[in-house]
Amino acid sequence: MSDSLSSLYGGRGISIVSGRGGRVWDSDGREYVDFFNGHGASLFGHSSQALRQALDTAADGVWSSGAGFESPVREELARMLGSLIGGGRAFICNSGAEAIEAALKLAVTLRPGRHRILACRRGFHGRTCGALALTFNPKYRNPFKRLIPEVEHFEPNALAERIDEDTIAVFIEPVQGEGGVYPLPRETGAAISESCRGNEALLISDEIQTGLGRCGALLASPLAGLDPDIVCLAKGLAGGLPIGAAVWRSSLGDFPGHGHGSTYGGNEFTAKVAVAALKLILEGDLPMRAGKIGEELRSGIAGLGAWAIKEIRGMGMLNGIEIASPSIDAVKAFQGKGLLSLAAGPRVVRFLPSFASTSEDISLAVQIIGEVLASGDAR
Ligand SMILES: Cc1ncc(COP(=O)(O)O)c(C=O)c1O
Repeated sequence: MSDSLSSLYGGRGISIVSGRGGRVWDSDGREYVDFFNGHGASLFGHSSQALRQALDTAADGVWSSGAGFESPVREELARMLGSLIGGGRAFICNSGAEAIEAALKLAVTLRPGRHRILACRRGFHGRTCGALALTFNPKYRNPFKRLIPEVEHFEPNALAERIDEDTIAVFIEPVQGEGGVYPLPRETGAAISESCRGNEALLISDEIQTGLGRCGALLASPLAGLDPDIVCLAKGLAGGLPIGAAVWRSSLGDFPGHGHGSTYGGNEFTAKVAVAALKLILEGDLPMRAGKIGEELRSGIAGLGAWAIKEIRGMGMLNGIEIASPSIDAVKAFQGKGLLSLAAGPRVVRFLPSFASTSEDISLAVQIIGEVLASGDAR
């Protein structure tokens, strides 16, 4: 890995060269159960047959015509995205942070004269300047303070009472992923939704990690008591190709003419794969599958009875274990034994299986977790 990539991402020391379903292989031929899945973007696992078909068809057509032209596939995707919140509009872009930026600009447009933007402590919304302002971790934010807008961060359970008539929007994740895998309690989400409604503040649910079936439902917001005006999506929407979307209730209004845009956003190539991916999720009962995978994984880990695990948290296929030792050491030790995972803060290891993960993948992962935690390799 080049020096700059390694300093930004922390080198993993291996090169993943192939993948199928829930497994990947490195350049030395070593096999891994993949519970990392490209930061959760490979929601369907690797080399999904159905998505490969969509890719083949997409490759044979126009890849990028430009969003000013009409495009049946882009319009189909926008319609499908809108239907996720019962008849909404969608701005299609290329990443999670771009979806957040779009939501931020839209919110400011829709609530002129108001000043406050609220988000949660431990929240993560991305690294571009607007998204970074919403992200809590001061380690990410502080070096760029003079570039980013002002955002007030509160504990989720203190948020509802801080919303007032000067509030433009509240950004929240149904399950905080990067911040340590904390599902939002339903009563807390409901109180925030009610307070937003009462004050006509916009509720913006960041479902970039939680959405599209991963947490056991099409969207995780209702599971967390949230009734959002705007939903942000990305990871997994095109099975691992770069894409993002901000979806909002049509009744709210729209961007001003030429108020936002993207060269690649909604390009035909990615849109075709995203339509196929959404159809798979909607028609294949995949959210239910995600729920079962999560239950199997959590009960397998609980069955280990490992003293080193302080807590198991999660929803569907977004899970974390809180451990006493540094998460980064555990992630390395798991990788050494054939399981890919990722850290979610200093003491939490996150597991992001995919719809392709099998019971064999899960039991092998649980076995590896047990071996590492029993041997003390994680310390
Ligand atoms: C909840 C959440 N929001 C936003 C982002 C940013 O997405 P991206 O890395 O695609 O810009 C992420 C990425 O991990 C995320 O988990």
